[in-house]
Amino acid sequence: MTSTALITGASSGLGAEFATQLAARGHDVVLVARSRERLETEARRIRSEHGVNAEVIVQDLTEPDAAQLIKSELDARGRRVDLLVNNAGFGTCGRFEEIAGARDHDQLMVNVVALVDLSHALLPGMLANGGGSVVNIASTAGFQPSPYFAVYSAAKTFVLNFSLALRNEYRGRGVKVLAVCPGPVPTGFVEAIGNEKGASFGSLLPADRVVRTALRALDRNRAYVTPGFGNAVSAHLMPRRPRALVAAIGERVTRSVLGGAPKARAAAAAR
Ligand SMILES: NC(=O)c1ccc[n+]([C@@H]2O[C@H](COP(=O)([O-])OP(=O)(O)OC[C@H]3O[C@@H](n4cnc5c(N)ncnc54)[C@H](OP(=O)(O)O)[C@@H]3O)[C@@H](O)[C@H]2O)c1
Repeated sequence: MTSTALITGASSGLGAEFATQLAARGHDVVLVARSRERLETEARRIRSEHGVNAEVIVQDLTEPDAAQLIKSELDARGRRVDLLVNNAGFGTCGRFEEIAGARDHDQLMVNVVALVDLSHALLPGMLANGGGSVVNIASTAGFQPSPYFAVYSAAKTFVLNFSLALRNEYRGRGVKVLAVCPGPVPTGFVEAIGNEKGASFGSLLPADRVVRTALRALDRNRAYVTPGFGNAVSAHLMPRRPRALVAAIGERVTRSVLGGAPKARAAAAAR
């Protein structure tokens, strides 16, 4: 039976690339995001280029019951998921009090809550079927507290630690769990964050290379991967303690890279 991968945030950037590379490996794919037209265009392209089944589920992941709605839709279509890629996400950048609270709330719903809820919804099926994989997209921002990216970096720390914990719960039970920690990638992320410099920490890598590295790490059953030599080295050289000092240094470094304490952009708040 053909294996099926469900990819959130598959309408652009890393998610669209995951869908393409997984389809090239012979997986059927289910593409999830809000933009119906973009998803359907991607699905058509994937079907014609790779000859696999590519379906679309349009779902806003800020909705509290998003994962259940996706699961019900999969059940109604008779689709079982063997590989879940929790990729959908966005960031905010700026002084905390200037970022719209609703925007940060949405960020947590997409980057954290939907990721946990979808794991709850789909992992039992993987266990019942004798195996599966979960790939969670974290970030190099998740390795330390990042002032002016306070919510984003904390959310990505959650994703990284959640993934490492689950990986060890499912070790020996047939389910692989991988956290992917990219540095900057030229995608819609930059526009969404509303600050070009805000997405420029580390070495820029193209999406296809990040995804190829991630899938190779999944093949090797790695716990986490930081694509790009420069990103991997800086992530591992970064001191973790004392935590308060690391955060204070992070504030200075970020302020100097951004050219002063960044103002949260209206564009980011509006998206
Ligand atoms: N690019 C980078 O520099 C970078 C670095 C490290 C980690 N990451 C992580 O990589 C992941 C993918 O981001 P990307 O770089 O590929 O950015 P992107 O091109 O902006 O893609 C983000 C995806 O998430 C989807 N999404 C956003 N809000 C959503 C919502 N409310 N409901 C459903 N889907 C939603 C978007 O689709 P719709 O708008 O159609 O809903 C889109 O498909 C994110 O988790 C991001 O944090 C990115």
